[in-house]
Amino acid sequence: MQEAPIPYKRMVFVCINKRENGEACCADRGAEAILAQLKEGIKAKGLARHVRVARSGCHDMCAKGPSVVMFPDNRWFYGVTEQDVDAILAFAALPPAPIPPVPAAAAKPARSR
Ligand code: FES
Repeated sequence: MQEAPIPYKRMVFVCINKRENGEACCADRGAEAILAQLKEGIKAKGLARHVRVARSGCHDMCAKGPSVVMFPDNRWFYGVTEQDVDAILAFAALPPAPIPPVPAAAAKPARSR
């Protein structure tokens, strides 16, 4: 395994999961259109080098989809419509809040007795 820093300031994941059993899912609620609008909007705003929009699997919010999650902000938008995309894009354009470092005590391996 190798590790590298994530080259984006923000990651936006859009659930496009399709449930084949007929249960509610983001795919049946317009998630692909939301994904396309977000990708186009990020490009149009010149943010493609800083914000990555990616499709994802289920966020376990199926009945309230489409579901969009944003990191490192820990934002979770659900019931997203095409009318909400501009607000999400405006948020995505903001500088992300700094992420606090992992406390030193948490980074140390636990002692076994
Ligand atoms: S199908 Fe999108 S959250 Fe489950």
